[in-house]
Amino acid sequence: MPDLHDTLEALYETLEGSEMAEEYSRRHDIESLAVLTIYNNETAKLVARSLAPRIEDKRVIEIGGGIGLLALHLGVYAEHVYCIEANPGWSWAFVGCLYAGKPKNVSYLFGAADEFAGQITADIALCCTHSGVMEMKRLWALFAPEVIDVYGEIINDGPEGFDQLAVALRKLQ
Ligand SMILES: C[S@@+](CC[C@H](N)C(=O)[O-])C[C@H]1O[C@@H](n2cnc3c(N)ncnc32)[C@H](O)[C@@H]1O
Repeated sequence: MPDLHDTLEALYETLEGSEMAEEYSRRHDIESLAVLTIYNNETAKLVARSLAPRIEDKRVIEIGGGIGLLALHLGVYAEHVYCIEANPGWSWAFVGCLYAGKPKNVSYLFGAADEFAGQITADIALCCTHSGVMEMKRLWALFAPEVIDVYGEIINDGPEGFDQLAVALRKLQ
């Protein structure tokens, strides 16, 4: 996988304080921050592997999939992954990886999740985020009967072993 560091740094710089990006988020009801938590293969592989027994041969919808790296790894186990992401910037950063590695059982849907409500359903809705969790919970229910709140579950299993800022942020939501 190409090193995304410089591309992502440039993107963060462009988005930082951008009135246009803020207006875009307001227009699409996006409450979470434009900050990736999954941007390298090692993390994505680890998370996907830990979820494998629960997603094997299932249809999965990832909401707020960021650059889509986790979706690629989930696709190794799941029957099909639909990765919904509203922020147009991420796909630009990830375009090289998509050309090189996108399989046909991983689909990327660009737009706010509620644009797709009623049009796709899955066995499991999944999300990796530290911010905008309440909004994500509302969205999950539109797509699947089962939900995996990846960081929520990790924090519940052992809050002391996790990033304490993320633990505190979650308590506020
Ligand atoms: C904190 S980021 C995490 C991104 C990715 N899951 C990761 O861990 O790297 C949350 C993402 O959710 C996306 N998002 C928030 N609300 C959304 C919505 N209603 N529909 C689609 N994407 C949304 C944001 O654009 C953002 O990229």
